[in-house]
Amino acid sequence: MSLIRAYTRNASNVTKLLSISSFYSRQACPVITNTSARNIKLLHTSNAKSLKERLAEIIPERQEEIKYVKKEHGAKSLGNVTVDMAYGGMRGIKGLIWEGSVLDPDEGIKFRGYTIAECQKLLPKAEGGEEPLPEGLFWLLVTGEIPTTEQVRGLSAEWAARSDVPSFVEELIDRCPNTLHPMSQFSLAVTALQHDSNFVKAYQSGINKNEYWISTFEDTMDLIAKLPNIAGRIYRNVFKDGKVPALESDKDYSYNLAKVLGYENNKDFVELLRLYLTIHSDHEGGNVSAHTAHLVASTLSDPYLAFAAALDGLAGPLHGLANQEVISWILKMQSEIGVSANDETVREYVWNTLNSGRVVPGYGHAVLRKTDPRYTAQREFALKHLPNDPLFKLVSQLYNIVPQVLTEHGKTKNPWPNVDAHSGALLQYYGLDEQNYYTVLFGVSRALGVLSQVIWDRALGFPIERPKSYSTAAIRKMFEQ
Ligand SMILES: CC(C)(COP(=O)(O)OP(=O)(O)OC[C@H]1O[C@@H](n2cnc3c(N)ncnc32)[C@H](O)[C@@H]1OP(=O)(O)O)[C@@H](O)C(=O)NCCC(=O)NCCS
Repeated sequence: MSLIRAYTRNASNVTKLLSISSFYSRQACPVITNTSARNIKLLHTSNAKSLKERLAEIIPERQEEIKYVKKEHGAKSLGNVTVDMAYGGMRGIKGLIWEGSVLDPDEGIKFRGYTIAECQKLLPKAEGGEEPLPEGLFWLLVTGEIPTTEQVRGLSAEWAARSDVPSFVEELIDRCPNTLHPMSQFSLAVTALQHDSNFVKAYQSGINKNEYWISTFEDTMDLIAKLPNIAGRIYRNVFKDGKVPALESDKDYSYNLAKVLGYENNKDFVELLRLYLTIHSDHEGGNVSAHTAHLVASTLSDPYLAFAAALDGLAGPLHGLANQEVISWILKMQSEIGVSANDETVREYVWNTLNSGRVVPGYGHAVLRKTDPRYTAQREFALKHLPNDPLFKLVSQLYNIVPQVLTEHGKTKNPWPNVDAHSGALLQYYGLDEQNYYTVLFGVSRALGVLSQVIWDRALGFPIERPKSYSTAAIRKMFEQ
């Protein structure tokens, strides 16, 4: 472990090293797994500890690590900030700490060092299933460790047990007009759940800041657990008869989400949700939903308020709502040029979109410079489960055409598809054709990533966020006088 190697170079840390290594040697049957040469993890194969118990063990070690990193590297520079960056949405400024995932421009997202393909291979599956369970991904994001099947089953059961939604929140959702966008209803309901925040109660009772993470963890677990019921109620109210079926306490999270949507008997759809919830969870710290949750939580707002704010950001068409935009753009294209238009006609349609001053939804990315691996994972799912679906074929046709057009157009830094270019076509195939609802599913998944970081924000005592800003007049004064 690099931390231990670094510690050995510093004599004053020998005692800490000994305590860390004896900590590891105390663990029940630790096994060293190696998914890549530089990335060694400890995998606990027995003695299934709950996530909270495991977290309580890890936090002191991570706190020491942060102290060490700040002491050794605190004064070093992460890079330059230019005026263009300040005007350009802070693109490329390295100014955030995010523990769960790092986004590489070429390789895509890695969750605690693991690629999507590695997660698909290593994370526990449902019985008879092939896709990873998002419960396992959450465990990985929180702890940095691949959980055992037993630990993941425990998490499924715990979430099912915490899933009840207070009746006043149900009524609040029921009172929303069907014309209110599902994302607005989602944000409203999550804000209202704040009524029962453990963190708020603990804070008001005057707990020590070292204990903030405990009630934050409880809120996070409660909130994630309630999302299928919230999301299901919104879906049933807006698109169906308003009746939400009860969750099953012995089933996994994705099965239960499929159930509230009415798809629990379609095992391929349940598998799709397992994949979907895993890959949409986290995309490092700078994207709008992640950064918003982190920013709002930095004021010691509780996880409900922080996540509701994240949902408001996700609801924008350049972020999560792009999954809705993509499918409506594709369906409009189909209605205008037919279902099996040739490449030339499709190319012309893409050019028309660009020439009318609009973006091609589902393409481009602020960080990525290759096809998004989340797109690829969905494409592989489609090749396996729906290779002959006409909509999938059109999505594939666009994959061959749009990057060429965007490159020729010459503005977009990344002409390749992102996650949103594919997800709608898969949902449509299984019959979930209510496009306005798609971003809600993205939001359920995003909770796993942003809330696991909020736990760490509290555990590591991160301060209130407060970057420096300048006015244009101040910039001119700085460089012109
Ligand atoms: C994701 C996105 C917001 C990233 O924005 P960004 O970091 O500013 O992207 P770039 O640096 O490549 O933008 C440079 C220019 O290309 C344009 N551009 C980027 N992606 C484009 C697309 N898909 N279609 C048309 N133009 C695009 C930008 O609007 C910008 O134009 P401007 O100079 O007139 O303002 C952008 O690619 C986009 O709008 N994509 C479509 C929406 C989408 O799929 N969102 C989901 C993202 S996961």
